[in-house]
Amino acid sequence: MRSFLKTKTAIALALSVTAGTASADGHSGVEVLHWWTSGGEAAALNVLKDDLEAQGIGWTDMPVAGGGGEQAMTVLRARVTAGNAPTAVQGLGFDIIDWANQGALANLNEVAAAEGWDDVVPAALQQFAKVDGAWVSAPVNVHSTNWVWANKAVLDANGIAAPTTWEEFESALATLQAAGITPIAHGGQAWQDTTVFDGVAMSVLGIDGYRAAFVDMDESVLGGADMVEVFNRMAVIRANVDDNFSGRDWNLATAMVINGEAGFQMMGDWAKGEFINAGKVPGEDFLCFRFPGTQDQVTFNADQFMMFDQGGAVSEQQAALASAILSPTFQSAFNVVKGSVPARTDVSDEAFDACGKQGMADLAAAASSDNLIGSVAHGHANPASVKNAIYDVVTAHFNGEFDSETAAAELVDAVSIAQ
Ligand code: GAL
Repeated sequence: MRSFLKTKTAIALALSVTAGTASADGHSGVEVLHWWTSGGEAAALNVLKDDLEAQGIGWTDMPVAGGGGEQAMTVLRARVTAGNAPTAVQGLGFDIIDWANQGALANLNEVAAAEGWDDVVPAALQQFAKVDGAWVSAPVNVHSTNWVWANKAVLDANGIAAPTTWEEFESALATLQAAGITPIAHGGQAWQDTTVFDGVAMSVLGIDGYRAAFVDMDESVLGGADMVEVFNRMAVIRANVDDNFSGRDWNLATAMVINGEAGFQMMGDWAKGEFINAGKVPGEDFLCFRFPGTQDQVTFNADQFMMFDQGGAVSEQQAALASAILSPTFQSAFNVVKGSVPARTDVSDEAFDACGKQGMADLAAAASSDNLIGSVAHGHANPASVKNAIYDVVTAHFNGEFDSETAAAELVDAVSIAQ
């Protein structure tokens, strides 16, 4: 099957061959498909656009709204099938590997070697950026999902300190409920439910249990008593969101915390980009802390730009885009705004705020203590088929279709079928 796909994709890509540097739709420079459409994301993206403009490289923007990138990947598949692949595409983890295995991505080894990417990009990212020894994408950042964001004034007014254990978190939720404040701002979308699940699962299973369940897909852990407890805790979270959570976009949930309408949001650190974009200051307006019980772990997802093969060698624009992304100055300027941390280990944390500095320190500590692992929710633990199967079970449970015991059993079946 894979060889058929490889041929089919290669033919489609060959049909998209455009002379010289023009992208398929005739624009000069690069056409970039991405899903960075929130205020904070757009502000960060402008850092990259301005950087390329200063180098004389044109940018044709192809934003596809939809948190987590599901909608963007659907549009991408349609573009490639039509023989009209964009120049560069935002991608995550196993999706990058899948496109590389279909022969769809250009080989970036020349620019990677010239700039020493192998020496500065962490091994955890290289496993999703290099396939069969070839660099196939340019890592932009390292996000992580096991964060909690809190409105400091709301917590202070209710005598709540940042919780460090599940029990303290439950107590804080009860205090906010009693005060008539929405404890948790949340958007009821499968990718968001599963982003919350990342941290909750880590808090119960620990790094070994998380790896056994979601990387090794060990059925005894996927369906075990600890997984039932994970779903029990997800039910507690469900009981602490507002009545209008269903379908809410993630950045609107972040705005609820920014505005003091809710106490907490459990979300990846792209949420920090919204606080920064709103002019808020860590430690003064908001708090950032690891989901209680996961202070020593990092569930990561790295944004990368895949350079789609345009039917020939990597174009000058693609190489320049990749080079701009990996430049240390861009890595600092972009990630300060995006809420993520740099994709290279030699960037100073000087320009980063307290949350950014903690994120960089957490990443280094987790990487050196084998506590760094890919986010299930954002395609860094297993391929899309398994990720989507997990989405379905987690969101069905969150919406009350399964009790916790049933959800654990359904997880075993869903993951088994999806492999
Ligand atoms: C993640 C992505 C982030 C942010 C988030 C919300 O998958 O890595 O950069 O876009 O989705 O859409």
